[in-house]
Amino acid sequence: MNTDMDENFSTAYGHFNRDGSEYIITRPDTPKPWVNVISNGEYGLIVSQAGGGFSWLSHSNFNRLTRWQQDLIQDQWGKFIYFRDRQNGAIWSAAYQPVKHPQAKYRCRHGIGYSVLTCLFEDVVSEWTLFAAASEPLEIWILRIANNGKTKRSLSLFTYLEWCLGFAPDNHREFHKAFLETEFAESEQVFLARKRLWEVADEKGRHWNRRWPFTAFHACSEKIAGFEGDKELFLGMYGDLHSPALLQRGHCRNSSGKWGDGIACLQTELDLLPGDSREVVFLLGAAGSDDAALRLSNQFRTPAVALQELAKVKETWRKRLEPLMVHTPDVAFDLLMNTWLKYQAISCRLFGRAAYYQQSGAIGFRDQLQDSLLMLPLDADFTRRQILLHAKHQFRDGSVYHWWHPLTETGLHSKVSDNLLWLPFVTYEYLKETGDLTVLEQQVTFVDQGEATLWEHCRLALQRALQWRSPRGLPLIGDHDWNDGLNAVGNDMKGESIWLAHFLYKNLRDFAVVAEKLGKKSQAEEWLEEAQSLKEAIDRYGWDGQWFWRASKDDGSLVGSGGCEEGKIYLNAQTWAVISQSATEDRALQAMASAAKYLYREFGPLLLWPAYSVVDENIGYLTRYAPGRRENGGLYTHAATWAIWAETILGHGEKAFELFKRLAPIYRGMNPELYQVEPYVTPGNVEGPDSPYFGRGGWTWYTGSAAWLFKVCTDAILGIQADWDGLRIHPCIPPTWKEFSLSRTFRQAEYRIRIENPEAVETGLVGLEIDGQFIGLPHAPREYLLKPFPAGSKHDIRVIMGKAKKSL
Ligand code: GLC
Repeated sequence: MNTDMDENFSTAYGHFNRDGSEYIITRPDTPKPWVNVISNGEYGLIVSQAGGGFSWLSHSNFNRLTRWQQDLIQDQWGKFIYFRDRQNGAIWSAAYQPVKHPQAKYRCRHGIGYSVLTCLFEDVVSEWTLFAAASEPLEIWILRIANNGKTKRSLSLFTYLEWCLGFAPDNHREFHKAFLETEFAESEQVFLARKRLWEVADEKGRHWNRRWPFTAFHACSEKIAGFEGDKELFLGMYGDLHSPALLQRGHCRNSSGKWGDGIACLQTELDLLPGDSREVVFLLGAAGSDDAALRLSNQFRTPAVALQELAKVKETWRKRLEPLMVHTPDVAFDLLMNTWLKYQAISCRLFGRAAYYQQSGAIGFRDQLQDSLLMLPLDADFTRRQILLHAKHQFRDGSVYHWWHPLTETGLHSKVSDNLLWLPFVTYEYLKETGDLTVLEQQVTFVDQGEATLWEHCRLALQRALQWRSPRGLPLIGDHDWNDGLNAVGNDMKGESIWLAHFLYKNLRDFAVVAEKLGKKSQAEEWLEEAQSLKEAIDRYGWDGQWFWRASKDDGSLVGSGGCEEGKIYLNAQTWAVISQSATEDRALQAMASAAKYLYREFGPLLLWPAYSVVDENIGYLTRYAPGRRENGGLYTHAATWAIWAETILGHGEKAFELFKRLAPIYRGMNPELYQVEPYVTPGNVEGPDSPYFGRGGWTWYTGSAAWLFKVCTDAILGIQADWDGLRIHPCIPPTWKEFSLSRTFRQAEYRIRIENPEAVETGLVGLEIDGQFIGLPHAPREYLLKPFPAGSKHDIRVIMGKAKKSL
């Protein structure tokens, strides 16, 4: 247990531990559920501070193991452990839910790959650790129980979970329960569950004609005193989880079979003398066969093995996050960068693909590609695999799935206009990180027919995007672009997108560089010409007077223009003008000044302003959200990170960092009554000024903002960025920062970089010391390119920021 000494960013609800590797929640009634999304890439579970949550295997929607309803107010669906004192009949639970007994002491520690719930009830302390095994399809619970009292305690323990075993939510329960089958394997002491129906179609495309191809298991390290497989016997008719009939009764009826409402409950008995403590292990998982299920339960159920596995999980995570570390004057920045943004993007977005606000399971073509940008400095091979995976979900004509389901390989093929461009975008970033042009030669199949190199996949994406243009040469928005909520602007393939024009411009110019490197000169020239004419079209048609408009509808009227009643200015159309350098300098500056004037608010930059109060059916569902919520005039964190990037390009270190601070969840979380959601992960959105709840966070965990915030902070604020010919050093920081350091590997060489800022500048470098060798930079350039070192070597770099000397 941590002491007060360790507190970091402490509020009435919790604080970080000293090294930031845990967030410790000190009471169960947080303003909204504060959860941990734990996944090993195959198996996943979510657990809230109250003990709510669920588990899945590979796909959180098609392959849910336990039932859960998205009720974030009651947060009462979960997997639970009950205690019953056999002497006095007292009942309590190892988490706040479901008994909600008064807590003498309550702690929930969310860590990297595990959570620990601690309760103190009448001198019995229970510490319940939950985690997914390092690489096997199961979760492990280690329950440590100590009797701190003066009398012997005789306790019964009961677990409780409801089987889902397939699609979630199983809203037609009376139908689905008829296919569930539970069994207690006496000789192996394991509770098993199977389902004779899975919603996924069989090889002939027939629905409801296939068994769920796994066996779920629930096991315990202790002797099983009883079990229950039927919800009715556990709760009693009209009973509830708060005070179930079985707990009042005190023993199981040992039900299992095909006829109940499938649950799992294991009972075990424990006698603890004063001062005694015990570790009990419970397992929950699913494997491809009965044998595999039995093997896993036998392998992991002893406390020694479980503890060993927990240590392995912690070590795996430590190694995963380690390759890039920062140390700056801002502790919140460091906590997010070193631990939590990486963990959020990897565990939730890339591995688990689920959270409390959204259970996806699918892979979004643009989403997980963008998320994989975070892996570039950590494990670039991961990004490489992600790129190739997405390329496989492209069609021969260059178009791509909007998203697809990994288990069934079914997807949505639409006229969404930006998805395909994220393939060259992320590939380009991968190439700069690794210099590995050979990836472009990799053969990848198309969804519909044949295969081609990754280069060809990227080329087709660009060509397809170039075809989807209006007569005046601007990209068509189609079913929508990055902003899903603009889903009715251009379905007739007439409406245009200025954001997409900026984005396409950047991709064309970047891939012209790739073409050059491959010796494809005419291709490079063609793309540069296209980019030039795009820039001219943006310049001629896209300027609204003080900023860029966002889109034109099929009827030619504008979205995000000063002439609109609502939604007059949109953030992305301004930030990407700078990021892509698709605007003239004057316009770029003015666009960002307008963004700052209308969009930058107390909690970060709004996606648009003012919010729509009237639904516009020719814009889309964005206008149907409550005003100020999510994309309708809220702070949409993903897009907000791009404003940070744009400000750094303009050299505005102070402003960029100010934006970071406004949207950083740790700072927002210092006012938990207003902000409400987890302070350790980014939210998808914070309510904007047109909401009465201005400043309230929402949609935490499942947001592309984690990876992007990490990327803009490393590449743009700290300014240590991978480039073709080396590491580009171009910090853009608040002038108050006196120094900071960063360690990272780049092309297998290790860099320890310390940046000093004695003259309190935002940008500019006056000197460099490379392994003790000094290089003066009297003109104080914005950036310096550090040539790559041989693989395996280690280097100390000292960078001195400052102004050019007057005498020059
Ligand atoms: C959601 C979508 C993402 C989209 C964003 C903005 O996060 O998953 O793909 O870009 O909203 O609309």
